[in-house]
Parts: sequence; C-alpha cells; structure tokens
Amino acid sequence: MKYLPKITLAQLPTPLHGMPNLAEKLGFGGKLYIKRDDLTGLAAGGNKSRKLEYLMAEAIKRDADTVITAGGLQSNHCIQTVAAAKKLNLDCHIVLSGDEPKHPNGNLFLDILAGATVHYVKRPDRDPRMHELAEEMRKAGKHPYVIPVGGSNALGSVGYTMAMPEVVRQMELMNIKCDRIIVASSSGGTMAGMVLGAKLVGFKGKITGISIDRVKTGKGAFPPELAELANKTAELLELDIKLNPDDFELEYDYLGDGYAIVGDNEREAIKTLAQSEGIFIGPVYTGRAMGALIDKIQKGEWKNETILFWHTGDAAALFDYVEELISR
Ligand SMILES: Cc1ncc(COP(=O)(O)O)c(C=O)c1O
Repeated sequence: MKYLPKITLAQLPTPLHGMPNLAEKLGFGGKLYIKRDDLTGLAAGGNKSRKLEYLMAEAIKRDADTVITAGGLQSNHCIQTVAAAKKLNLDCHIVLSGDEPKHPNGNLFLDILAGATVHYVKRPDRDPRMHELAEEMRKAGKHPYVIPVGGSNALGSVGYTMAMPEVVRQMELMNIKCDRIIVASSSGGTMAGMVLGAKLVGFKGKITGISIDRVKTGKGAFPPELAELANKTAELLELDIKLNPDDFELEYDYLGDGYAIVGDNEREAIKTLAQSEGIFIGPVYTGRAMGALIDKIQKGEWKNETILFWHTGDAAALFDYVEELISR
C-alpha cells in the first residue's frame, strides 16, 4: 500500500460513543453508537475535513494560490474548503447553485464571514463555471486548484479509506462488535472510501449508505459510480482490491421531496436526536440518514444489531431552516 501525503486539518481520531437514550426511546433491542465526524474541528466540522487533508496537500504540492470548489447554498463541503484554504493562506472561490439570498444564513453566512468569493449560478452551470473561473485565473497568472463537488474524487476518498482503520481500532478498544455502519451518501466519496477501507482492514459488518439524492438504476445510477470511484481510490493507494456495484448497499427510500427539502423524516429525526442525546444533526444529510435509521428500527428491521451511525456533520445548516424546523 502506498501512503499519500496529507496536511493535518482534522482532529483525529474523532470520538466514538454510545447513544443509549436513543436506543431506549426507540425500544431498540440492539445497541446504537455514533462516530463524531461532526467534531473534526475544521469550520463547523464534518466529513469533508478528512477528504480535504489529501486534497489540500495536493493543492500545496502544485503551488496553488487559489482553491475553487462548488456545491449547494448550504454546502458543508464548501465551508470546510473555505476554512482549510484560509488556514493555508490560499484564496477560495466557491460556486454555489442557487440565487443569492437577501439574508445569508448557516454555512453560507460562514463562507462570507471567512472571506470566500461566492459565485451564484444555476445548478447545471456549476461545473462549467468552476473551470471557466480557473481558466480566467490562469490567464491572469494565478495558480488555481479545482476541487470537485463534495471533494469526491479518488484522492478525496482516500480520507475515508483511512478512516476505517481508525474506527476499527476504536471499536476493538471499546469491545464493540459492529454489525452495521450507517452513513449519508450523496456525491459518493465518503462511502466509496469507506467500503474500500472496510475491505482493506477486514471489517465484516455491513456499510449501509442512505442515499440523499441519488437513484439506484437508470440515468445517474449510483452503485456503478461508487464502484468506479472506489477502484480509482484503490489504484491511487496501490491496493490490489477490486469492487463491484453490488458491494455497495444503499437505501433509496428516503429521498423525500428532493435534495435539501426538509420533511417530517428529517424534522423528527433532528428533534429526536437532540432531545434524547443532545446531539445536533443537519437538515440536508444527517437528518435524512438518521430519519432512515429510526424508520428502519421502528419497522422492526436490523433487530438486535449493533449499529454505528457515522455523523458526517451538517448542523450549521440548521440555522437556514428555522421555519421548517420549529414553526410546524
Ligand atoms: C454533512 C454531509 N454528510 C454526508 C455527505 C455525503 O458525502 P459524500 O458526498 O461523500 O457522499 C455530505 C456531502 O456533501 C455532507 O455534507
């Protein structure tokens, strides 16, 4: 295996602890644990910190003076990239899909406070705009480094391959025999990296991704993309591991009314976790994934299992959803 250079941006290992109150509240016969990647310590925390440790090392290696990335208006990836760039004395441009709001809130507010240059575009123009910006900067003699949406390329996914030895070690020390990991999945880098890391360390439990906005088959089918990304990550790490679409177990029943639209599933999950464990999850990703876990338990599935919920962050986006979350 080849070890790739990284820059320390996250406080690792992140904590892992039980959620006994939640298990009791749900009448669950198994055990519930949580891996706190919301506490990575970069901006408001979250899964992008692990990816950025590798992506930013590459940016520095290439002598970049500016980082460009993209996402939704409340992108957790963008605020963590902005924070990482500022820490490393780089400029940061973010291309966000949506209209400029009158009163920016949540992660967008933090992006602005941290001095990111924000470009608002329509969703299909996001990627082309990033590359146009990079071209304009190059012509002006600057050295931009473009990070894809979600930091989800092979290099970013390495962060989650390397998270698996960390969590397995923690579980060994705590004597936890984990049957299943639950994680929110969207641009795919987190899950692709984790499933590869699971093979690497011989983790025998399941990894169940909760699809936030992706479909299983047809146009934009997720599993083939995940397998391709994991295999590219394996190549980078010089690992002799090959994954297939069938290696990725995902739930697609929790797409609700669409990406970033809060419904009963997310609202109830956010309140349930805050009120039972004092932990905040977010409206777009982790609320949806926790809602899925709660629903499965309430339907009697995954009975008596030991389940680890991987908290990937997202709580700062709550501040942009006050009406949806409390005035109903
Ligand atoms: C908080 C949070 N959780 C989960 C995800 C999903 O991770 P990935 O895009 O690597 O699938 C994201 C992606 O933006 C995120 O911001």
